[in-house]
Amino acid sequence: MLEKFIIHGGKPLKGEVRISGAKNAAVAILPAVLLADSPCVIENLPNISDVSAILNVMQCLGAQIRLINKSSVEINPRHVNSFVVTKEMAEGMRASSYFLGALLGRMNRARVAPPGGCNFGVRPIDQHIKGFEALGAKITFENGMVDAKAEKLSGASVYLDVVSVGATINIMLAAVKAKGLTVIENAAREPHIVDLANFLNSMGANIMGAGTSVIKIRGVERLEGTGYSIIPDQIEAGTYMAAVVAAKGDVLITNVTPKHLESIAAKLKEMGAEITEYDEAVRVVMNRRPRKCNVKTMPHPGFPTDMQPQIATVLAIAEGTSIVTEGVWDNRFRYVDQLTLMGADIQVDGKMAVITGVENLNASPVKAVDLRAGAAMIIAGIMADGKTEIEDIDHIDRGYENVVEKFTSLGADIKRVPIIDSTPVYKQA
Ligand code: EPU
Repeated sequence: MLEKFIIHGGKPLKGEVRISGAKNAAVAILPAVLLADSPCVIENLPNISDVSAILNVMQCLGAQIRLINKSSVEINPRHVNSFVVTKEMAEGMRASSYFLGALLGRMNRARVAPPGGCNFGVRPIDQHIKGFEALGAKITFENGMVDAKAEKLSGASVYLDVVSVGATINIMLAAVKAKGLTVIENAAREPHIVDLANFLNSMGANIMGAGTSVIKIRGVERLEGTGYSIIPDQIEAGTYMAAVVAAKGDVLITNVTPKHLESIAAKLKEMGAEITEYDEAVRVVMNRRPRKCNVKTMPHPGFPTDMQPQIATVLAIAEGTSIVTEGVWDNRFRYVDQLTLMGADIQVDGKMAVITGVENLNASPVKAVDLRAGAAMIIAGIMADGKTEIEDIDHIDRGYENVVEKFTSLGADIKRVPIIDSTPVYKQA
């Protein structure tokens, strides 16, 4: 059923919100379970549609899946015998590419439909392929599928031409049981890469240097099932932090790793927010109009690209003119047209947006053009006076657990409602 969000904005946010497990760690760790010889229990899984999609693929491949509760699952990969992930199985999911690395690592063979996910222009996988080939796999493209096969995989040195989260993860997955030493240079350093390495090491892998730009993987014969709890979602936490700065208020954000939020907190402080860090929580207090600031997105530990639309939305109502530069993706400003409908003054030139702050946004019907753009529309709706309707919210459901319940608990007026088709139906007499 098609649904939309209706938000009556203009209320400050107050209270406490608990952050779920990290989407981008979950979508790497779940396929990695296929490398084990015995069952794994994965905890702190976010209840989002990208995770259900991955679990569905794993089940189609032959994994036995038992839901323990809403955030824990037991997966038995013993009987996985298929190496094919079809287009229908991978529908719309970026992380389907991780089945290439995981299935290659498990059975030296993988045939996977090309990844989907958010549309930010071209999303190449050349660096993933370069890594697989260095390990000894032969990659071909047949009938719209990526086909990878190897007699055996052997450790190799791979230098990434661009810092790629996906390529770093995929090469780790393929290399963890390859013979000998693999070195990934210019590796991505995101928290979810460290989380994946910790998970694989807890199964018996030998990975060093995750979190730095040189990762060394000494191949092991076998990996055993383990119990593992996924890290909190940095971007979900950042989204709630930005929402408080936009709508004003006082919110305690719990179940977070404050270290992962430093680059986001630094910018929000520059905008005038008071942010206090605790062991596993941050408190955000904002009681003024945000000040302008410039933001450039970069791979970790830089400011995350996945927070770019949300921070730009806050800057849309800041005092003064801000410049937001996108340093990761070619085309991540598609949401700007939607903010413009709400009265924002934003000029985009290539990878740069010049944002001249307006007093406030006007409520309007808008669309979630992708996942984080959708989160930005929620922030815009919450701070604008009046009724904002957001369509295409399936993008938001891919990555935000219980977003309506969480914002409602903070005092926002947000509802999920079905879209009723008003096209008249004429019956023949
Ligand atoms: N790139 C290449 N060749 C490759 C791979 C990437 O040129 O083989 C380029 C991309 O075109 C891009 C840059 O390298 O310009 C970085 O891409 P990366 O591979 O790091 O992105 P990804 O792995 O496809 C993940 C997240 C994205 C997040 C990016 C960057 C997952 C499932 N997705 O994508 O998250 O934006 O890293 O941090 O982990 C989101 O959660 O909203 C989201 C889009």
